[in-house]
Amino acid sequence: MECRYNEVTTTHAQPPAVFSPDTLTSNAAKYLTSKKLDNSSNALSKIDGAFVGTSPRPSKTALMVTPGRFSPASSLFICGMEESKKQTHCLVCPITGSRLPEIRLQDIIFTKVDTRAEEYKCLGTGVTSAVFEGQVVINNCGLKSVAVKLFKQPFDNLEGISAEAGLLKMLEQTGITPKLFGILQRTSEGNQPGIVQELIQSSITLHQLIVGTPFITKQKWYNIAYQLAFGLKSINEQGVLINDLKSDNILVNISTDDCRLTFIDMGHASYMHGKRFPMTTEQASICRHLAPEIANGEETSESSEVFALGVIFKDIPLEELSFISHKCLSKIPLLRPSVYDILNFVEEIM
Ligand SMILES: Nc1ncnc2c1ncn2[C@@H]1O[C@H](COP(=O)(O)OP(=O)(O)OP(=O)(O)O)[C@@H](O)[C@H]1O
Ligand SMILES: [Mg+2]
Repeated sequence: MECRYNEVTTTHAQPPAVFSPDTLTSNAAKYLTSKKLDNSSNALSKIDGAFVGTSPRPSKTALMVTPGRFSPASSLFICGMEESKKQTHCLVCPITGSRLPEIRLQDIIFTKVDTRAEEYKCLGTGVTSAVFEGQVVINNCGLKSVAVKLFKQPFDNLEGISAEAGLLKMLEQTGITPKLFGILQRTSEGNQPGIVQELIQSSITLHQLIVGTPFITKQKWYNIAYQLAFGLKSINEQGVLINDLKSDNILVNISTDDCRLTFIDMGHASYMHGKRFPMTTEQASICRHLAPEIANGEETSESSEVFALGVIFKDIPLEELSFISHKCLSKIPLLRPSVYDILNFVEEIM
């Protein structure tokens, strides 16, 4: 079944994770070009765990991948920068208008799974991408640990990727999203496009924490609930709607006392307006984080973000959250609390 997440209010349509028709392991290899993932070899490399399933998870399964295609929208290369040693072009975010640095593939050292094998450490996979750990040389700043999000077809459109990167850059000031280092420079060899962002160390997804075994104290769950409400408030206050808020897209650093959260994945986000995601009833039933009005063709809004937050709150093992989560999940958007009400509520129960 060909299912697409058609976004009708802007030109930056991206299919959603869950509706992708190409999530099978058997199709995985064709999405990534691993040629010269680092500069050490011309041979095809193995990508560790790329696209093994639909839900993001680290994996130790290696796949042999074959070269893919990279078709940039040439109009995006609009800032003629001086021919410098590091950069010949930069991209501009179609949403924020900000300049996005390009990072050369050869400046990235992808982390290998072991020293001998040509297998690279995959931090997680989603439907649109696989994310790899590495280090990058940043001008005058030395080496930085990075997470490189490599996109697969049909999600590898530069316009959408530049939009995601630009929003990440804009959200840096909130302190709850990964820093943006840049976009992978395309090469004549046709590497797949990617976003180079701050590596969130020692993290697991909130989904993994909710369903998994790591035990954390009640106090830490309160901290998580607080950071969720605070983070959503901070992002919405910047004019950004995440439009895909779910526990898979939240990273938790469980090694810190406060279980520090990071909101990742702005792949469906919008700026200063909502988006429509037309879908069938069957598709809507898979997306439990999407508010009912969105499934009915309305635009996303701060209220649909609150609905998504309510879904996460429902999954968090704190009884005290059930009252507010129930309110967030109201079918009528106007009956949902604001993110400010939610933040006050969480502060009171902490
Ligand atoms: N900055 C980061 N630091 C560490 N791990 C990360 C980072 N960004 C992403 N990951 C890992 O990669 C996974 C996939 O990332 P992301 O959600 O951005 O990709 P996606 O393909 O858009 O996923 P989805 O299918 O949910 O839309 C995450 O769940 C997480 O495990
Ligand atoms: Mg994701």
